[in-house]
Amino acid sequence: MQASDKVLILDFGSQFTQLIARRIREAGIYCEIHPCNVDPERVKAFNPQALVLSGGPSSVLDADSPKLNPVYLEMGLPVLGICYGMQLLAHNLGGNVVASADREYGRAQFTAMNDCPLFEGIEEADDLTVWMSHGDRVQAIPEGFEVMGRTDSIEFAAMGDRERHIYALQFHPEVAHTTDGNVIIQNFLFKVAGLKPSWSMASFVDNCIEDLKKQVGDAKVVLGLSGGIDSTVAAVLLHKAIGKNLHCIFVDNGLLRLGERDEVIGFLEEHFDLNVKCVDASEEFLGKLAGVTDPEKKRKIIGYTFIEVFDREAKAIDGVKFLGQGTLYPDVIESESFKGPSAVIKSHHNVGGLPEKMNLKLVEPLRELFKDEVRRAAYELGLPEHIIWRHPFPGPGLSIRVIGEVTEERLSILRVADKVVQNELMASDWYRKVWQGFAVLLPLKTVGVMGDDRTYENVIALRIVDSLDAMTADWSRLPSELLARISNRIINEVKGVNRVVLDISSKPPSTIEWE
Ligand code: XMP
Repeated sequence: MQASDKVLILDFGSQFTQLIARRIREAGIYCEIHPCNVDPERVKAFNPQALVLSGGPSSVLDADSPKLNPVYLEMGLPVLGICYGMQLLAHNLGGNVVASADREYGRAQFTAMNDCPLFEGIEEADDLTVWMSHGDRVQAIPEGFEVMGRTDSIEFAAMGDRERHIYALQFHPEVAHTTDGNVIIQNFLFKVAGLKPSWSMASFVDNCIEDLKKQVGDAKVVLGLSGGIDSTVAAVLLHKAIGKNLHCIFVDNGLLRLGERDEVIGFLEEHFDLNVKCVDASEEFLGKLAGVTDPEKKRKIIGYTFIEVFDREAKAIDGVKFLGQGTLYPDVIESESFKGPSAVIKSHHNVGGLPEKMNLKLVEPLRELFKDEVRRAAYELGLPEHIIWRHPFPGPGLSIRVIGEVTEERLSILRVADKVVQNELMASDWYRKVWQGFAVLLPLKTVGVMGDDRTYENVIALRIVDSLDAMTADWSRLPSELLARISNRIINEVKGVNRVVLDISSKPPSTIEWE
């Protein structure tokens, strides 16, 4: 990605590092996160105009804690150290860091001092609410530094060296709980480092298409379209770069929602003239799922069957050299983290093993983007709202929402019930307010009464949650009238269902999906 002014964040393991990157990008400056032990040659090749040292869970006082390679300070760039990053600066440059008796966690009141440029334009700078999360603290600041702020419990809560443009904060400006945290970060970027904003989605889209042309040339690319926003945006970018040399494959596994294929694929074919092959493999998938009730087994069967089908279809296209994937930046950071790749199986691993099996080179147009940036790129590319704001849908599809055995009959009951949920969320304007909302078909029947007759039929559970990133979630507090309407409509309109229940569990300890 070509952007003139760039920032590099050295990651020392803070849970907030990605937030720093997002705040910087929101300010219009391209930035990347690299592990703190990255080869300095890679940093030099990236050619940043400023550095940020993230927080981290370690103590600089521990012998085996991650260190700050002095080479970074010798580059003469403006530096912002945050939390552990501040302690590293103090430690490396001749100050003193001590362990506190208690860990300080939560809000604190901060007073800026000495006209520090980081707090310019902030009205409440003498009594700012900030977010703290640290054990150690700086007890003596290095030579050349001034104290730039304090709290009731910390004498050196901010420090700076005006000449070398090195500043440090004990608190986290990237966290929403810090008042005017964005202004502090922007003051560092624009006032201290003198950067000029040049990162926008329009520039990303143009540069990305140019880069893809160079990377792929005249070769053919095959890409699995799922109907989700990531693979859709990846496909449209590739299509704009290489046109008909992009071959998209949409695998209908028989586990899709009602109208799924037409809503996205139909649109893409019509408006972007995309080369899409729809493969109906539903019999193959449902055949292999027959009699299977264990959730992990279902997932595995679907995973390997997808690879088999996709591989077969891709091989039928002559001369394919690349596999396109919608990998996002958080996945890239995770796989490069100095803590090692996460053991957690993430959603993009649905097609794990595919590149190795197919012996193709990877092309990943979204590997620099966060999820919200993918949505902005989608707007830029002219995709419609109904695609941009589609709720996430799991790779194993409805199979993990039909609890117990997956049969054609049970899938059709769930599809109709789920359509009611989707329609009602949209009609009431709640669709965009919730993270995800869907129906689950339970593996039990209960007694009901319809007219004069006793019924003995299926139960549908409603799972509708709020979330920011699916790592945690809470059940959405929908108006009771809306819930009543969804329930009434499902019981009246879906043959085979006589009861609707609401899932009111949060994640953790429950997950969003039931299987
Ligand atoms: P859980 O159930 O783990 O779900 O709380 C978190 C988010 O991930 C989605 N999900 C998946 N997405 N393949 C996917 O592409 C999967 O196997 C998968 N399992 C869960 C889920 O819908 C939610 O948004």
